[in-house]
Amino acid sequence: MPPPFPITDEEVERLRADTPGTANVLHFNNAGAGLMPRAVLDAVKEQLDLEARIGGYEASARSAAALRRPYDAIADYLNCDPTGIAVVENATVAWNQAFFAVLDTMKAGDRILTAEAEYASNFLSYLKAKEDRGVIVDVVPSNDHGELDVDALRSMIDDRVRLIAVTHVPTNGGLVNPAEAVGKVAREAGITYLLDACQSAGQRALDVRKIGCDFLSATGRKYLRGPRGTGFLYASPRALERYRPPTIDLHAAKWEGPERYRWAEGAARFENWENYEAGKIGLGVSVDYMLDVGIDRIETRVEALAALLRERLESLPGFSVHDLGRTRCGIVTFSHPRLDAVDVQDRLRARAVNVSTSSAASTRIDMTKRGLPTLVRASVHYYNTGEEIDRFTAAVEQLNP
Ligand SMILES: Cc1ncc(COP(=O)(O)O)c(C=O)c1O
Repeated sequence: MPPPFPITDEEVERLRADTPGTANVLHFNNAGAGLMPRAVLDAVKEQLDLEARIGGYEASARSAAALRRPYDAIADYLNCDPTGIAVVENATVAWNQAFFAVLDTMKAGDRILTAEAEYASNFLSYLKAKEDRGVIVDVVPSNDHGELDVDALRSMIDDRVRLIAVTHVPTNGGLVNPAEAVGKVAREAGITYLLDACQSAGQRALDVRKIGCDFLSATGRKYLRGPRGTGFLYASPRALERYRPPTIDLHAAKWEGPERYRWAEGAARFENWENYEAGKIGLGVSVDYMLDVGIDRIETRVEALAALLRERLESLPGFSVHDLGRTRCGIVTFSHPRLDAVDVQDRLRARAVNVSTSSAASTRIDMTKRGLPTLVRASVHYYNTGEEIDRFTAAVEQLNP
């Protein structure tokens, strides 16, 4: 395949003009929450206005097409059928729905394999599962590059492994775990594969057929630039056949007789009745916006901007960059020679420069192994610019106790 044609400077100007927040802040916190494009913001506000004007349920009926759109748009992005998509509150709910569905089929002694870069909330669920069910949780070691070691994963497979659950891009750095290679191992062994794509959705191409996952969870507000309080779950046809959601309500299933119910068709069974419809509409608009820009072009530009930022930070005396992996995405983590990370974040915020921090509690296995303190996390998106990277580098260099 030829490389995607780059996003030009003129386009970046247009994309920034489309993004109200870029006039106010230097935003390197896209892994926290991306700045919404105006079209997303307008869609959310319009739906809220409509609800206020004519009533919530009536607004829902009038906006039926816009409420369908996120399913089709996300399916276009992931290369799957829209019936495989559930739209939910956030990535945590999406992941929990999948994980606890699989856990319901597991017994004491069954194994879950995960990665060193696993996200805290997921690992907390493993700990609870160990406590409640006596399942075994094994962490696949990373290779010398810091990526999940696919050969080690293969060697750890036995007939007790019921689930491989891996974070694609961790919360604490630019690492991209080899999602497709993991999928190949899972497929060959016939093991269920749950991919947490919360940090990769919107900055990287995600093709569930290529990845070979049974479930994929993601959030709306980060690299997808959607509204807060939105997320989604992909469930493969195989997963839909094999697993039942851990919870039920009258949206997820139909009460057909006093003693009888039937699950909703497709991944809708992982949803529940009430939801943030304005946000859901906004999510559809944000995914369409991403598809219009082109995810391959986004991936290329985000990687290039992040590489430039790493290079600049590494050239500053005493600064260290901590991102792992051969392929590195838009998340850049570093430590400052004179200030702790929270201090850096606070001082930058006072100058309208947005970053966040990553502490050991968010990815404990990896952070403890590397002995890292809380890190500054600067996450770039395609609407950021080289000029912002220059300004950012100068700003962090000037910070003193
Ligand atoms: C890797 C990863 N998974 C899941 C989540 C949870 O996402 P949400 O806050 O949308 O539930 C996060 C949030 O930062 C994350 O970094």
